[in-house]
Amino acid sequence: MNQGDQKIVIVGRSGQLAWEANQQFQGLGQIISVGRPEIDLLDVEGVRAEIRRIKPSVLVNAAAYTAVDQAESETEAAMKINYEAPAAMAEEATRLGALFITYSTDYVFDGMKASPYSEGDPTAPLNVYGASKVSGERAVEAVGGSYLIFRTSWVYGARGKNFLKTIAKLVVERPELRIVDDQVGAPTWSRDLADATRKIIEQLMTQAASEKIPIAEALGNRRGIYHMTAAGSVSWCGFAAAILEEMEKSGPSRGNLANIVPISSSEYPTPAARPQNSRLCNDKLTNTFGVTLPQWRESLAAVMDELG
Ligand SMILES: NC(=O)c1ccc[n+]([C@@H]2O[C@H](COP(=O)([O-])OP(=O)(O)OC[C@H]3O[C@@H](n4cnc5c(N)ncnc54)[C@H](OP(=O)(O)O)[C@@H]3O)[C@@H](O)[C@H]2O)c1
Repeated sequence: MNQGDQKIVIVGRSGQLAWEANQQFQGLGQIISVGRPEIDLLDVEGVRAEIRRIKPSVLVNAAAYTAVDQAESETEAAMKINYEAPAAMAEEATRLGALFITYSTDYVFDGMKASPYSEGDPTAPLNVYGASKVSGERAVEAVGGSYLIFRTSWVYGARGKNFLKTIAKLVVERPELRIVDDQVGAPTWSRDLADATRKIIEQLMTQAASEKIPIAEALGNRRGIYHMTAAGSVSWCGFAAAILEEMEKSGPSRGNLANIVPISSSEYPTPAARPQNSRLCNDKLTNTFGVTLPQWRESLAAVMDELG
């Protein structure tokens, strides 16, 4: 099969990652984006039917239930979308002999480790969202097809609902912003995530074409969980300060922007508890596929440039 004939289905349409994947994957093959209203991940049988109808060679699940606090009171929806739906997608992909790619989160860990988490570290989620993503990971592993699970963290970009957009709005509206300074992680640009995924799909396609095998087969024993975050790390408060720094370069003077005040997590109670250490070690991704995401600070500058 020619590369141009390969069907790459992206589940999710207007989400941060889904939208960027749609842009970044262009040229890889026939890119088919599916999402609401034609498929709803709460209707798992409908999801199966759509995959059977399209018959992709690569199925990328960029959709998820991502409302971390809301998940505490919507356990059923979170489990359906983050566990049952990816499990069904993995089964359908395997049935078709397709490669399945899905994403998970730093919130699978409890954050008690002093250094960055590796893929083999035990999971111990602190909240319902994290638990639903662990269940999704286990279910995809149990299907045992050709799969890649990319765990990422603190996703943001110029589009969608995210920390950057919230801070950029609040710093011009309020005199002071109190931001948590004892949770550390890697803010990851949705475009870097989509771009890294594209590079990996492209590698597998090239190998599949030269060996005349399906893409799913090209993955071989490299299937599994990989950490995929920006390089470097920072606290939420440090991230907010960097956003302000970028805004000052192009926008109003310091006097017009909010003061950022560091606080502890205990001073900002939320329905869902969050890990203090969200740092993920990306060595496995780099060593296996030769892919490394840029430093978070570099990508932030690029996003802010785009926002103008
Ligand atoms: N955001 C983060 O900070 C973060 C951190 C770590 C890991 N992750 C993981 O990274 C991946 C991408 O996240 P993201 O930030 O791009 O998420 P996002 O911006 O919140 O987008 C979620 C996507 O899921 C879709 N979706 C939600 N419920 C659905 C349903 N019932 N049926 C069909 N589609 C549904 C949404 O569709 P609509 O367009 O129709 O709303 C949207 O396209 C997810 O696996 C997430 O768990 C995210």
